[in-house]
Amino acid sequence: MRVLGIESSAHTLGVGVFSGGRFLANEKAFYRGGAEGIHPRKAADFMAERARGVLEAALAESGLGIRDFDGIAFTQGPGLGPCLQVGAALAKALAARNGKPLAAVNHCVAHIEAARLLSGARDPVVVYASGGNTQVIVREGGRYRVLGETLDVGIGNMLDAFARELGVPFAHGSTVEKLAEKGEFFGLPYTVKGMDLAFTGLLTAAVKALAERRKEDVCRALQETSFAMLVEATERAVALTGKRRVVACGGVAQNRRLQEMLSLMCAERGARFAAAPAEFNADNGAMVAYAGFLLLKAGRAVPPCSAKPRQRFRVDEVELSWD
Ligand code: FE2
Repeated sequence: MRVLGIESSAHTLGVGVFSGGRFLANEKAFYRGGAEGIHPRKAADFMAERARGVLEAALAESGLGIRDFDGIAFTQGPGLGPCLQVGAALAKALAARNGKPLAAVNHCVAHIEAARLLSGARDPVVVYASGGNTQVIVREGGRYRVLGETLDVGIGNMLDAFARELGVPFAHGSTVEKLAEKGEFFGLPYTVKGMDLAFTGLLTAAVKALAERRKEDVCRALQETSFAMLVEATERAVALTGKRRVVACGGVAQNRRLQEMLSLMCAERGARFAAAPAEFNADNGAMVAYAGFLLLKAGRAVPPCSAKPRQRFRVDEVELSWD
């Protein structure tokens, strides 16, 4: 089965191809925003402008024409409304024009399924750490269950917001990661409530600390503290479920220090840690194509009229009709 996947939930317009058990293309255009962060309407306009080019690049990379596909998949949610609309409209138009079935994909499920496929971990504790989401997830009873999650903002948005306070040209968590390598740790507020996390108090304290300390030190302290919180919740999930694998996915899962901290925790618990390759942790169309493939194989195509974006589409709402 050949599936074309379209991702447009936040800052990335991605078009990917999954065919015959392999990824054949994964093209993207990335909206960088400015001092204001991601402006949903401007990001959506950027995506609409770049849609044709990214689609054509993905088709060229895969060596396939649009008629060769068995289905079109798109990210239904969660995400920013105007951005989700662009991907949904493109997918619906391609499906209707070419008579192809349509698959409406949950973005978190796509991250998790790509990470499972690429890591070979069949039943892991999943650490889903991205801009808008921060969740510790396990599969149970035919769904992904959220054991713990952020009570306020996603860890990636928190790091991006802090990077904007630094006034760097491209404010992003990766900026904090680079600066943190040269910094020294000091204590900042640490908030784990049961299995849940909160980041806004930590962010406020870190921004205040910039008045007195080197930015490298604050980056280090902010990263260490927020990652330690996430690792603590993950460790509790490993202890509770007895699962032997931990997989990290989502944009922040690309952070080397977070990977190292999760690896250390797993080693102490006799578990194995893996993260998907960076290309698949950043938002991308290939993971949407793969999740669409799983849905279509299970006979779960949706009519175009019900393929509306869902900004708050939670991972635990999706029934999993595959292993
Ligand atoms: Fe994502």
